[in-house]
Amino acid sequence: MDVVTTVVEMRRWAETARREGGVIGFVPTMGALHHGHASLIRAARAECERVVVSLFVNPTQFGPGEDFERYPRTMEADRALCERERVDALFAPSVAEMYPPGSETTVDIGTLGDVLCGAFRPGHFRGVATVVAKLFVIVTPHRAYFGQKDYQQTIVIQRLVADLGFGIAVVICPTVRERDGLAASSRNVYLSPDERRRAGSLFAALEEARRLIATGERSAGKIREAMRVILTSQGLVRVDYIAVIHPETLQPVDVVTGRVVVALAVWIGTTRLIDNAVIEAAHG
Ligand code: PAJ
Repeated sequence: MDVVTTVVEMRRWAETARREGGVIGFVPTMGALHHGHASLIRAARAECERVVVSLFVNPTQFGPGEDFERYPRTMEADRALCERERVDALFAPSVAEMYPPGSETTVDIGTLGDVLCGAFRPGHFRGVATVVAKLFVIVTPHRAYFGQKDYQQTIVIQRLVADLGFGIAVVICPTVRERDGLAASSRNVYLSPDERRRAGSLFAALEEARRLIATGERSAGKIREAMRVILTSQGLVRVDYIAVIHPETLQPVDVVTGRVVVALAVWIGTTRLIDNAVIEAAHG
């Protein structure tokens, strides 16, 4: 595996790979890799001749007072995981390499970044879209892999790719979970043992939404309320949002018809966790 730290070198690597003719698959990450990331790498490995993983804790997607400084950095373990998963190139640039002094240009992704997580983390999706656009230009992938775990991010990236004409196939991979249903996340390491136990209630709340919809409940308000009761029973009372939304527009729905996304963002102590489920309501 090649470990690449400069933009110039990454560009050269990608140019060579393109010249040799293979499909380049790309998995952007912020490191602290876990089995959720590994599932994306495996999907890329199965479909592409070359697999590039980027590892960059992107400062522009963290707001003031967020966890940029304490975000876990585990380069050696990440490198070993990439080796095991037969990654061809690991791109791990510094902040100065990605944002040289004087950097000004950002990507404005419009209103999709204003709702859900964007409403609580102003500028977050601008930072995500900007760094992903830069990475796309540097790595020039044919295919890029993202996790459903960050549902809004997948919608923003699909919008970005369509609007700026990147011509990259965006592949969305299912959320990988722990045994109790908690979505694997680099931030789970922040949880104390007690918080970790209670964190299972995010998935329990999503499962309750799925059960209610399967048994005929169509009121988004009632579904949200039932989810809140489950979270409250585990002492999770700081809820940024519990939302029932349209899968493409991300706008809230009042009455469930067809496919909806149920999404939530919840604080456990000083840790903010998100999760979602795509749920199809049966007709009739
Ligand atoms: P990060 O949180 O490291 O996640 C990298 C990719 O792994 C994202 O596409 C995310 O959705 C996916 N992922 C994380 N946990 C997952 C899980 N449990 N199951 C499936 N996929 C999972 O998302 C980011 O980094 C950044 O915003 C980034 C896109 C790299 C831009 O900086």
